[in-house]
Amino acid sequence: MTSTATSELLQFISFHPIGIIFAFANAKISIVFRSPTPGPSPGKMGKYRIRVATGDSLLAGSSNLVQLWLVGEHGEKDLGKILRPIRTREVQLEVEVSLYLGRLLLVKLRKHKSLVGFDWFCKWIAVQGPGTQGEAFFPCYRWVQGNEIICLPEGTARTVRDDPQNQFKKHREQELEERRKVYRLKDLALKGTLDLTNSVRRLEDFSKVFPRGKTPLAEQVRNSWKDDALFGYQFLNGANPMLLRRSTSLPSRLVLPPEMEDLKTQLEKELQTGSLFEADFSLLDGVKPNVIIFKQQYVAAPLVMLKLQPDGRLLPMVIQLQPPRNGCPPPVLFLPSDPPMAWLLAKTWVRSSDFQLHQLQSHLLRGHLIAEVISVATMRSLPSLHPIYKLLIPHFRYTMEINVLARSNLVSEWGIFDLVVSTGSGGHVDILQRATAGLTYRSFCPPDDLADRGLLDVKSSLYGQDALRLWGAISRYVEKMVSLFYKSDGAVKDDPELQAWCREITETGLQGAQDRGFPISLESRAQLCHFITMCIFTCTGQHASTHHGQVALGQHKENYFSDPGPQAVLKQFQEELAALDKEIEVRNAGLDLPYEYLRPSMVENSVTI
Ligand SMILES: [Fe+2]
Repeated sequence: MTSTATSELLQFISFHPIGIIFAFANAKISIVFRSPTPGPSPGKMGKYRIRVATGDSLLAGSSNLVQLWLVGEHGEKDLGKILRPIRTREVQLEVEVSLYLGRLLLVKLRKHKSLVGFDWFCKWIAVQGPGTQGEAFFPCYRWVQGNEIICLPEGTARTVRDDPQNQFKKHREQELEERRKVYRLKDLALKGTLDLTNSVRRLEDFSKVFPRGKTPLAEQVRNSWKDDALFGYQFLNGANPMLLRRSTSLPSRLVLPPEMEDLKTQLEKELQTGSLFEADFSLLDGVKPNVIIFKQQYVAAPLVMLKLQPDGRLLPMVIQLQPPRNGCPPPVLFLPSDPPMAWLLAKTWVRSSDFQLHQLQSHLLRGHLIAEVISVATMRSLPSLHPIYKLLIPHFRYTMEINVLARSNLVSEWGIFDLVVSTGSGGHVDILQRATAGLTYRSFCPPDDLADRGLLDVKSSLYGQDALRLWGAISRYVEKMVSLFYKSDGAVKDDPELQAWCREITETGLQGAQDRGFPISLESRAQLCHFITMCIFTCTGQHASTHHGQVALGQHKENYFSDPGPQAVLKQFQEELAALDKEIEVRNAGLDLPYEYLRPSMVENSVTI
């Protein structure tokens, strides 16, 4: 403890009428209090030991006084303003209460401001009651701001069914009522700015983005960005692996003129052997292009046909940049045999289109915004006592914050899209709306999505392999956790909070997505597990990219469950992820281009960037 902190504490102790100092050491402070007034029905005096943990960051502590209440099954005791959570890892208080409280249900707290209010990050509070009662744990893990009373329920996860005496009923209802005022599904339109002074002007300027030797991937891209093999590889294992699909017929938009009979024969041959693939950017067709600094921009809506070779390489066969239009000559087709610069420009247009769909559809919509929908629905529908709330909450950390930044700086009026992207100034909003209308439940679940896109048995789809393995690990974790709290399908069906949560995601958040396969109710444990696995995968693997997060998947330190069962299941999940991480590391060591995006240690625990 610093000398400043010591003097602050001594100052506090000296003016507090009931406090006497007991002991304090470097990281822990212990204080003993005697309850100033006897309780309404004087009984046996009981001694309670209260431990309070504050966050680790520099500004996590507060010099404001905090009032505490203990609420037990037999009564409630106001302990007064006995806590000053200065930046110390753990404070220990001892209080004597002249009222038998019984089993503790809640701890209530209220931060009082003096002249200035300082926020406080409270991690948890633990209370050891008199007699043989064990220590009760009250998780918090949030900032305490303002001077409202905050109720922390004891950390054992409970569904409505697990509380037959309705001891927590009122608390659950009040908590959700408050949260529904704060979390609402509504657009936030804010304005932002961009520094344009460091823009890329020449091809060589990209060296600044990909400095030599930074990563094996950067080096490879730098050396072979013009190669057809890398162009094809990006559809399998690049930043946007969501567009490629195996062809089941020649696309109707591909109009082949009579002089391209050879190409038609080749395409049909690949189609028959099941090695023909396509990347169709039709979603971009008709999107209004931007005007940047008085300069008209253009948006292509290409189709790329590719063949999968026996060695696993995916090579482009033909590129069509725009779909055919009535009354116009058929669009030009570009071939690998064309003059090198013409072919390179055609591939560059495809990359430009892929950038639009990658950022808007795969990253912003399917990652950030869907994570937000799940997060807001969870806050509005599941109280903090609910086991599924406790399971999901670590996967929502900082998601709201990063999304507010994305709205204010990226897609807002005068945001980055408006200033420098060819689909900015409205086209990007159009793309987001079109993409939203096509969101299917199956596309969020890799086993279904990869099957639908014909990628399950493509060995060179490292994204596909790793996504399936990660999905499997998450799904086993979720199944073990769900089986601790739901002993039958009936228990799932009879949980009103869980059903309201599912409806909120599908009907409200995703605007009627039951038409696209999202469930509107949960009828069985299997269905619940699948839905939760989708939620966790969406907030982690779906969003994972080159961003390296601060907290890797499953490695959160917060402990929302005070019961040992869930803690053991989380530990097993962490062990399975560590084994998967090792397997991928070994696999990557034998590859020219290691695929790192879905390595568990590289996958963030939530959407944070
Ligand atoms: Fe992101």
